[in-house]
Amino acid sequence: MPHADQLIINIGRLATGQQAPLRGPNLAQLTCLDQAAIAVQAGTIVAIGSQAELSAWTADQVIDAQGYLAIPGFVDPHTHACYAGDRAHEFELRIKGASYSELMAAGGGIMSTVRATRAASIAELVAQTRPRLDQLLAHGTTTVEIKTGYGLDTATELTMLEAIAELAQTHPIGIVPTFMGAHAIPAEYRDNPEGFVDLVVEEMLPAVAAWWQQQTIWQEPLACDIFCENGAFSVAQSQRILLKAKALGFRLKLHVDEFEPLGGTPLAVELGALSVDHLVATPPEHIAILAQSETVGVSLPGTPFGLGKSQFSPARSLIEANGILALATDCNPGTSPCESMPMAIAIGCRYLRLTPAEALNAATVNSAFAIRQHERVGSLAVGMQADIALLNLPDERHIGYKFGTNPVAMVIKAGRVVHQSQLRADR
Ligand code: NIG
Ligand code: FE
Repeated sequence: MPHADQLIINIGRLATGQQAPLRGPNLAQLTCLDQAAIAVQAGTIVAIGSQAELSAWTADQVIDAQGYLAIPGFVDPHTHACYAGDRAHEFELRIKGASYSELMAAGGGIMSTVRATRAASIAELVAQTRPRLDQLLAHGTTTVEIKTGYGLDTATELTMLEAIAELAQTHPIGIVPTFMGAHAIPAEYRDNPEGFVDLVVEEMLPAVAAWWQQQTIWQEPLACDIFCENGAFSVAQSQRILLKAKALGFRLKLHVDEFEPLGGTPLAVELGALSVDHLVATPPEHIAILAQSETVGVSLPGTPFGLGKSQFSPARSLIEANGILALATDCNPGTSPCESMPMAIAIGCRYLRLTPAEALNAATVNSAFAIRQHERVGSLAVGMQADIALLNLPDERHIGYKFGTNPVAMVIKAGRVVHQSQLRADR
């Protein structure tokens, strides 16, 4: 008789995409199965199918899914979840009419969080970040990318990496870090932005590369991200930083076209970046270039929503041109204080006009591909890590249909139950 460590039985419905990346029309491809079961050995799925097909399996531990909807744990490929303080005061100022760029130009915005983060110890940063990871996990996210970028000096950027490393070792959520020393021009370089670019190129990148070589948590190369935008880094500055990063072995990612189409998207494609993120003001000719590449377009619909704006990523154009689309929360204290991938899906369905199947795949299979974790996570199949969210919903359409409540009943990470909601007793 086949025997496993864990057997997850009584799954009411299973919905998963497969074969990352799902390009263009393939984004809608979802495998769904009613009355399913999953067998897990050493954290990896060893059998998956109908309850009847797995009826011969026994296990050390049987997890009763109570008829819930099982999906791959969400992969959130773009967050700034590690920071100190908050920016509720700026939220209030924006409601009264101040713009995000104005607050940033006046020394607030990202710089306000930089001041709080520079003042925090590693232990304080860890303590303030941990509850956000708890929320991410409670909303079904089992793998999250977390950027640095609230240090903007070498020492604090390294402090952020240390904090993220400690969280990776002590929190059940899977964490993939990204270095983002070029997140903003800090106040002390306001009159000398090129001097800050020099600092990133000559000091920060080599120091971070050396730190990365010493750590033993992650095996793959670290990614380097940059905010290519008016008021942050120009295309020429972005190119200089990214070329140096590439030479040092970093993978590349870019924040592009959040407000203005500077030309960051073609630069990203030219440099072979993993992803371009935001992608709001992107002109059609740049979508066409992106769609022909392996670079993922990561839309962050919580950000325009968080800023009370009405322009969102041209996701349908990217899909129609056969590109790769993913979704993320952009969880950060300024534009998108959101820890919920179901919320990103709910906004994505309405304003990006994604079908529920497309949105689910963009938040799992393709978001895993955006941070190149797709060989282990983002879909449910034999050989994949058993990262599973059980949702108190009848089927996958309800993930985006409902909003404002958390549908997640249970979260399983590598076969282990790591979160259970109080709702469970209701059924
Ligand atoms: O992706 N745009 C730049 N960075 C973040 C915002 C960070 C912040 O405001 O603290 C973003 O939206
Ligand atoms: Fe961001």
